[in-house]
Amino acid sequence: MDNVAHTLENLHHESRSFRPHAAFAAHANATSYEYKKAGVDRLQYWREAALRLAWRTPFTEILDWSDAPVSRWFHDGTLNACDNAVDRHVREGRGDRVAFHFVGEPGDTETLTYRDIHERVQKAANGLLSLGVGTGDRVAIYLPQIPEAVVAMLACARIGAIHSVVFGGFSAESLRQRIDDAEAKLVITADGGNRRGQHLALKPLVDEALASHGEGTAHPEPCASVEHVLVVRRTGQETAWTEGRDVWWHDAVDPQPAEHEPVWVEAEHPLFILYTSGTTGTPKGLWHSTGGYLTGAAHTHRIVFDLKEDDVYWCTADVGWITGHSYIVYGPMINGATQVLYEGTPNTPHEGRWWEIVEQFKVTILYTAPTAIRTFMKWGEAIPNQFDLSSLRLLGSVGEPINPEAWMWYRRVIGGDRCPIVDTWWQTETGAIMISPLPGVTSTKPGSAMTPTPGISVEVVDDAGRPVANGEGGYLVITEPWPSMLRGIWGNRHRYVSTYWNHFDGMYFAGDGAKKDVDGDLWLLGRVDDVMNVSGHRLTTTEIEHSLVAHPWVAEAAVVGASDEVTGQAVVAFVIVRGDAHGVPEDGEEVAAALREHVRRQIGSLAKPRTILVVSEVPKTRSGKIMRRLLRDVAEDRPTGDVTTLADPTVMDAIRTGLEAGAGD
Ligand code: WT7
Repeated sequence: MDNVAHTLENLHHESRSFRPHAAFAAHANATSYEYKKAGVDRLQYWREAALRLAWRTPFTEILDWSDAPVSRWFHDGTLNACDNAVDRHVREGRGDRVAFHFVGEPGDTETLTYRDIHERVQKAANGLLSLGVGTGDRVAIYLPQIPEAVVAMLACARIGAIHSVVFGGFSAESLRQRIDDAEAKLVITADGGNRRGQHLALKPLVDEALASHGEGTAHPEPCASVEHVLVVRRTGQETAWTEGRDVWWHDAVDPQPAEHEPVWVEAEHPLFILYTSGTTGTPKGLWHSTGGYLTGAAHTHRIVFDLKEDDVYWCTADVGWITGHSYIVYGPMINGATQVLYEGTPNTPHEGRWWEIVEQFKVTILYTAPTAIRTFMKWGEAIPNQFDLSSLRLLGSVGEPINPEAWMWYRRVIGGDRCPIVDTWWQTETGAIMISPLPGVTSTKPGSAMTPTPGISVEVVDDAGRPVANGEGGYLVITEPWPSMLRGIWGNRHRYVSTYWNHFDGMYFAGDGAKKDVDGDLWLLGRVDDVMNVSGHRLTTTEIEHSLVAHPWVAEAAVVGASDEVTGQAVVAFVIVRGDAHGVPEDGEEVAAALREHVRRQIGSLAKPRTILVVSEVPKTRSGKIMRRLLRDVAEDRPTGDVTTLADPTVMDAIRTGLEAGAGD
């Protein structure tokens, strides 16, 4: 090792840039003044953002950082999250605004105003109280994407109970781990949900989660903390019942009085726990505060999504992820948004379902993930082209680096070349958007999240923690505390400190690689765990994937490093071919040769994949992130590792069988 600090190679160069349209800028919620204000006095900036919330008692102190790295924001103020998201609108005369246009997968719809939600959350709060849930208790929520999920979260917040939403696609075992870790007193679930035209049962998974799993298993005893299971009837399917423990929502909630005074909590009162899978061991229960979290979520939602009175906003995430917490429930509702909430999948009953919904509700703001965009590219643009998407005025992306070609496709096919795109970088840990263009203010570049949002301080550093120069890559860190930062890992301060704060002195390490381009704009390069070392060069998977997706034949690409006798590691790429591409050779070898040459020409020999394999699917987590670890197993010819967090557990078999059939080597 030399004594020069190591950084990540900067391979991709992008020259396309889009300036904000003057017409958009003229009415944008954000102005460049925002950056100036935050630059002059960051804390004052956050104070002003916090003052947009409704406080029961005002705060006097902005930030208390004396117990670093645990921050306290606005801590002597009191408020209630549900009061901010719901009651306030009714109180201020906005009760008749539509909060949600709900669309069930089978086609059932329901329109809910803020007044309707107000009535429901009060009943639900009284229902929770009647089941013995109180302030500070934990409640696990395991529901499909239906209005009750939103109501359940807000009802918890209303009584000061801490919700832990577990995505409805998780297994009984995952649910049990999360219930046990938080010692939840109540589980809120449904008989089932609608998924791809089927009734997907949920309640039996709760029963399984709560039961003893037998001698010698991880759970020899039944779950000790849960007293009741509150069950929403959604599909009407048959459901086993444990008398005394199980209660129907329509029995426990619907008859309750629609009157309940919110519990006023201190700003630092925990609002929720959300589990995210750690690299090793048990999932991490990240927990967020009330005042700081709500400030971050509502403020970023207003300036990044430019929300206006007449907007119809649709975030396609599930409420079970942080994106659903911050950008369906808390941020948009605090801002009084009218939203679309959709229960199902994008291809049920047909591949144009989303675009049909955009057309029907005249959606103006759409927030989704690169994995969805690449899927639509694969299905072909003829499908969205059948629908009127002219209501759209702003598009957002989150979850992974968005490939420049997917960005361009999103802009042209979905956004009709008129909508700005906000590529928003953030994490469950950060609670709110940290890096993103501000529409109407910031120019955009396809594939770049551009600059930190006002009030946020990030840096890209080398191994030694020193800022890298423009044009170089390194590690993304956050250098100052921010209001919506996680307050810790539930019950484990040590793990919080060692996971995020021990890599670079006094800085939060996000776990992502990033680079600054020649203009100083930021490009996210994926998780540093995925970095490859090829002949001593540290390459990130992202830029090679970007290059592959830029080829007209490729819809999706996943790159991994596989051990190689000569170069240490070699680049192996898995590609999915686009459904609407013309002239793709039948022979996988020919495709591979053309793509290898394409990468060599675009970014250089260093990055040229040693092997390219054409596949029909790549393994993804349930939140749509590519699981490169499993592809490394294939590339290195090992048995496949733990597949329990895969969205579709059969995809690894399909990949292996497909490769054996095609390759013949
Ligand atoms: C990780 C956080 C934040 C809500 C969804 C994911 C990756 C997220 C971007 C983006 C590049 C992104 C990062 C980050 N990521 N957004 N716009 N560009 N990468 O939340 O499950 O906590 O994952 O997602 O790697 O660290 P999460």
